[in-house]
Amino acid sequence: MSNNSTEREQWGSRIGLILAVAGNAVGLGNFLRFPVQAAQNGGGAFMIPYFIFFLVLGIPLMWIEWGIGRHGGKFNHGSAPGMFDVIWKNNLAKYVGALGLFISLIIMIYYTYIESWTLGYSFFSITKKYFGLGDFTAMKIFLYSYQGREVSPYFNDISWAYVFMVITFAINFWILYRGISKGIEKLAKVAMPLLFLFAIIIAIRVATLGTPDPTHPENSVSAGFGFIWNPDFAALSDPKIWLAAAGQIFFTLSVGMGTIHAYASYLKPKDDIALSGLTTAATNEFAEVVLGGSIAIPIAVAFFGVAVTTQMALGGAFDLGFASMPLVFERIPYGEVFGFLWFLLLFFAGITSSVAMGQPVVAFLEDEFGMDRKKAVGSLAILVFISVQFVIFFLKFGFLDEMDYWAGTFGLVVFALIETILFMWVFGADKAWAEMNEGGDIKIPGVFRFVMKYITPLVLLIVMLWWLVNDAIPILLLKNAVTENIPYIWGARIFMVLICALILFMVKQAWKRKEA
Ligand code: PHE
Repeated sequence: MSNNSTEREQWGSRIGLILAVAGNAVGLGNFLRFPVQAAQNGGGAFMIPYFIFFLVLGIPLMWIEWGIGRHGGKFNHGSAPGMFDVIWKNNLAKYVGALGLFISLIIMIYYTYIESWTLGYSFFSITKKYFGLGDFTAMKIFLYSYQGREVSPYFNDISWAYVFMVITFAINFWILYRGISKGIEKLAKVAMPLLFLFAIIIAIRVATLGTPDPTHPENSVSAGFGFIWNPDFAALSDPKIWLAAAGQIFFTLSVGMGTIHAYASYLKPKDDIALSGLTTAATNEFAEVVLGGSIAIPIAVAFFGVAVTTQMALGGAFDLGFASMPLVFERIPYGEVFGFLWFLLLFFAGITSSVAMGQPVVAFLEDEFGMDRKKAVGSLAILVFISVQFVIFFLKFGFLDEMDYWAGTFGLVVFALIETILFMWVFGADKAWAEMNEGGDIKIPGVFRFVMKYITPLVLLIVMLWWLVNDAIPILLLKNAVTENIPYIWGARIFMVLICALILFMVKQAWKRKEA
């Protein structure tokens, strides 16, 4: 290995590390995706499968990924190909690990674009650009024309979106270029406390809204909380709800993608992971269930009632955040300030996640190719910048959704199943358990050893098969696709296959180079 001589980067402080991993996990998923998922899937009843999966998938995978990551770091590997190669002595291991690069890279491409909308909208809030638009339909037209899906008096082309995209990507790559402790950790130390502060301010504002429209006393904040939390137990017999809950746990905790591993690889061999892993998972759940659950839905119900909110939630995770929240901001005193804070909070949540998605590829290029950071980040930037053009210009044809489905929903489960089997069975439960507990400030409760070895893989297998049959096959065969979109959906698939081939080729080259 050519790069052993250079010191591996390290986190500057324990609190910085925890904030960075919490920043990785806390993202748009907590504030936009979670409330919509809960509202669509049985309200309070959704929380039952959600917490079950948190215990049997979320927490165990968190520890497994910290364990694999710190272990890989001891051998100078910051990405899944090298890490899998260490725990599984097989020629195939590095290629299987390529999945960890693929998933995080694909998600980074579209997620960072969505993140740029939040920056745009914080600007439109403080400048009151959308103020005066009367209803949900108008706000949707505002959003769609911003995204270049249609033309309207508000935006006649995509240039605003493009500018905010360029700014957002530039900041992301600049932070990656600054590195682990000077870039990612510093960002987390500033962005995470602000994010929590803004979220608490907005949640309090929401809680004190009462009944904003006296002519509609049934529309209140408490009705909004009731809408999210009143359990519809009949919904529990629907497998869809269980799949949605599993999907949300994966997405929100950032497990099954290779990003937690990359962060953990910069730990020192004897640093704690048992308590840190648990703390970051708990922080994420607080941000999600307490804060994420108290903003978008309750506020929408208070202003528009249950029926309209349901309709908004059915329009997708983003309509609620981008099209209904502005309607509220234009109606409350200092709404431009609250709107600014809300979208800035989303931006902070997004950017501390998107830099995490970039890190595995950067680590791969540094560790396995011996590139310096500048070159590694530059290469990633070029690749991502070219790729995002498809996402931007084919947005209305479902290009983004297709990537989100295969990488951001299905891929995670596959990757999680593979890593659990490799760590707990191939590497071996004894060694894995010792690795996860080494240097720990707490001892992981013994029952989790059993859970990680048997329950987690079993549940993952069931979820995956269920998904494959119920969801993946109809989607693969384009059963519900709009005819006009079909060529673009195939385009997205070919694009993903090409990215995958590129990664496999690079893995091959990297190992060839090392053997030479
Ligand atoms: N967990 C992040 C969120 O909730 C999303 C994410 C996905 C982060 C993949 C890192 C990697 O928004």
